[in-house]
Amino acid sequence: MSASITYLPESGTFFLQSQNTAYAFRVIDYGYVEHLYWGPAIEPQALGQFQAWRDRAFSPNPVPSDRRISLDWLAQEFPANGNTDYRSPAVELFQPADGSPICDFRYKSHRIEKGKPSLEGLPATFAGANDATTLILELEDEKLALKAELLYTVFSDYPVITRSARLSNSGKDTVQVRRLLSASVDFSSNYADYQLIQLSGAWARERDLIASPLRPGIQSLDSKRGASSHQQHPFIALAELGADEEHGQVFGFNLVYSGNFLASVELDSHKIARAQIGLNPHSFCWKLAPGQSFQSPEAVLVFSPNGLGEMSRSLHRFYRGHLINPQWANKPRPILVNNWEATYFDFNADKLEKIAKAGAGIGLELFVLDDGWFGKRNDDTTSLGDWVVDRNKLPGGLEDLVARINGQGLQFGLWFEPEMISRESDLYRAHPDWCLHVPGRVRSEGRTQLILDFSRREVREEIERQMSAILRSAPITYVKWDMNRHMTEVGSAALPADQQGETAHRYMLGLYETMAYFVREFPNVLFEGCSGGGGRFDPGILYYMPQIWTSDDSDAIARLRIQYGTSLVYPLSAISAHVSVVPNHQIGRVTPFATRGDVAMTGTFGYELDLGALSPEDKQTAVEQVVFYKKVRGLLTSGDLYRLKSPFTSQESAWIVVSPDKKEALATHVTILAEPNPPVTYLRLRGLAPERKYRVEGTDEIYCGDALMQIGLLLAQPKGDFVSVKWHLVAVD
Ligand code: DGJ
Repeated sequence: MSASITYLPESGTFFLQSQNTAYAFRVIDYGYVEHLYWGPAIEPQALGQFQAWRDRAFSPNPVPSDRRISLDWLAQEFPANGNTDYRSPAVELFQPADGSPICDFRYKSHRIEKGKPSLEGLPATFAGANDATTLILELEDEKLALKAELLYTVFSDYPVITRSARLSNSGKDTVQVRRLLSASVDFSSNYADYQLIQLSGAWARERDLIASPLRPGIQSLDSKRGASSHQQHPFIALAELGADEEHGQVFGFNLVYSGNFLASVELDSHKIARAQIGLNPHSFCWKLAPGQSFQSPEAVLVFSPNGLGEMSRSLHRFYRGHLINPQWANKPRPILVNNWEATYFDFNADKLEKIAKAGAGIGLELFVLDDGWFGKRNDDTTSLGDWVVDRNKLPGGLEDLVARINGQGLQFGLWFEPEMISRESDLYRAHPDWCLHVPGRVRSEGRTQLILDFSRREVREEIERQMSAILRSAPITYVKWDMNRHMTEVGSAALPADQQGETAHRYMLGLYETMAYFVREFPNVLFEGCSGGGGRFDPGILYYMPQIWTSDDSDAIARLRIQYGTSLVYPLSAISAHVSVVPNHQIGRVTPFATRGDVAMTGTFGYELDLGALSPEDKQTAVEQVVFYKKVRGLLTSGDLYRLKSPFTSQESAWIVVSPDKKEALATHVTILAEPNPPVTYLRLRGLAPERKYRVEGTDEIYCGDALMQIGLLLAQPKGDFVSVKWHLVAVD
């Protein structure tokens, strides 16, 4: 089914169709826009038959003579503040001229275009003219002469609809945008039997999958940290109670944004569930002068009739096809060794070259020099902002070091933390007002550092200049872009008092501009996002950087949950994962080398330990891991993921990645805590072709696809905790 948007003038209905999915709303009396439907594809005619309006006590009527309509219970597309709707609005505008926070948007016009327009200054999904269709619904607040354009894009090959909103002020007065969400959907039937799915956590414990039943009132999660954060994630889903990986309707919302966000569901007194996602209104205030416009970030809405597994696969395919830089989206990534956990700040060129040499010996392709190579940085207290090689540590400079690493046959990658400044730096001494701060207030530090005011062009230009000089000084093919603290005292020395509420968002716009600059200027560099691990793992970053360091917790068992939760939304090709030393540095756990490899290779694979210090057995295992990963990395980059066992609900974790043509698959099973005398257990696979026969590579075992999915693979009794086993299946017919 191709993507289509149909307007039925007789009923004022807009009928949007993405792959196997329909979404509909209509313009009703007085120009209000009523949400009608989102779910499996249906015939448009079905929709005109419903009209659930009724006169209700304590639900006031905007048109007093017509008691049929109150916004208090009407399902809406763009609920506004201060009228007869007491629920959370999608838009709130404050008018300094009269002190009113009221706005009232009614239908004005619409247009339908092929393809998908880009969003000014913001990362967003993209599509060619034949892949998508966009509706621009124009609403107007007549009193303010303010226009709201709601953008809806549907896609032929994905059950996805993207939404965003843009406000334009054609009036005579300045208004303050206090709230503008990207999407608001009123689930108009009895959705009390749905649950809210969210991904919440902490540093080193990112993206725990949490499900809770809806209850009357607001359930919300947000970030006020100036980053999408480790703590909450700009994703929610409403899923039928009892939905699992394969069953139940699921409606997902993901925000293409890396800063402060709000995601919430409000269950009202008539069991309408209003799900919303967008910029966090907290401390946000944007001055919109006459003639100016304001664009919201984009929300990605995804529907799955078949559980969370299908939702994830749709999002993975969609992000590979329409969000991640096409140059990298389906390209296998180099296997790297990063020196951070091997040396921390204590290194010299010889030590690094030794690690690279050992890496070359096991077949690695890229060496990454992490923190500590610049300024006078021997610990985390100095030098951020001074992107000049520390000649005390590296007397020959990067030119010499990169030549030595290249001489070992490895490419070279480098760590930066571009948005930060240490008080102990030349940059801070020269420009003490270049950090985010508010005069007269304390400048709180995190990891002994302050945040550069990226809302200011001159600040960004200085960092672009310094970093570009480094990137041009040697053949550097990879950059790890880190960010190690959250915002406090959010103010900009460059903005007037009445625009300070814009600082956090202007920072993000500036950050995106700088990221776009580097992607444009260095098109062959592979960029990896990072924020103290996975503190900014979101679609906004993914637009510029095709892979992201998933967590500072590199323990394979902790990673089972972190990577499982992350895979709910993001493809494996985005999930960076490394084999590290034991006892693990974050948690002290000892796990087998093989398990560490099996978990890490279900992402963009690498090592982060002193490879020169490996035991002969571990070295042999590493050689085999690298040979194996090179064989399957194409499959892992573009295959479909099926989660088979959840580490959140059992002492096992298992998954399978199946190639799009179903001729190849890699299944992995990890035992967390082993059980004595366990029952006979089979691992039932998913996603295979039932009629095909598959050989388990390295054995002469051949199984039918249907048997593998109905009966499964027999699991041997685990010989201890944390043991993994994997099966590489290749179709033989
Ligand atoms: C935090 C990152 O997540 C680590 O991988 C490492 O790069 C350190 N920062 C370096 O300071």
